[in-house]
Amino acid sequence: LAGNYHYLATVGSTNDVALQLALEGAPHGTVVSAEEQTRGRGRLRRDWLSSPRRGIYMTILLRTPLPVREASQSVYIAALALAKTLHSTFRLPSSIKWPNDVLVRHKKVAGILTEMQSDQEQTRFLVIGIGINVNHTQEELAGPFRYPATSVAVELGRPIRRQELMKSFLERFEMEYDRFLDEGFGAILPELEEFSDILGKNVSVLCGKEEIEGRALGFTPEGALVLLTREGRKQSIWAGDVTRVE
Ligand code: BTN
Repeated sequence: LAGNYHYLATVGSTNDVALQLALEGAPHGTVVSAEEQTRGRGRLRRDWLSSPRRGIYMTILLRTPLPVREASQSVYIAALALAKTLHSTFRLPSSIKWPNDVLVRHKKVAGILTEMQSDQEQTRFLVIGIGINVNHTQEELAGPFRYPATSVAVELGRPIRRQELMKSFLERFEMEYDRFLDEGFGAILPELEEFSDILGKNVSVLCGKEEIEGRALGFTPEGALVLLTREGRKQSIWAGDVTRVE
């Protein structure tokens, strides 16, 4: 990455700051992180808990040479990089809930919000916003979340230095992104399956207003989720919000 870092105290949303910087010409690999967000955004118009100094709230700007379809596959890279970092640096049993939530012991520890835009020259860019619950206590995570939440500190039983996690994650992200560019999504897919929290499990997927239930069979070569529905039909899903059902 470019080594162009912006460490900020309080922002609305690091994604908004990164989008603005991108429009002003910031280079590929620019990283924006903040101690606190006042309007942290999650997927599906939800809010993202962004209490001061507890979590990592960061956004990476990627200027990509890839066509839209391939570019959108880079959303999986951040989740994979974080799951691998938590696993190798902190020995935490981490997994990925498709498309890009990171879990530890089946509870959500991090979420990713990706937004794609083009600037005046029509060069495509992507901002990948990553929110990680790092030093939150169990009480702070007791709120009404759609998915059970946890933090790195809760799972490890001790607080950690956020800087340390951020550094190892960014190194890993850069490695995985380079591998994706060199070898394509096909090289990443087996690891996404290996880290998947839902493969072989019965899930319910919220797609817009529709709720689809079935067993998660795998992913297409493009990254869509393949479900075996109750009616015995195979169905590919491109985007949605997954919960496990018994
Ligand atoms: C989700 O799980 O719904 C995605 C959450 C993404 C949160 C991060 S925190 C940094 C970046 N800035 C935002 O406003 N959102 C993302």
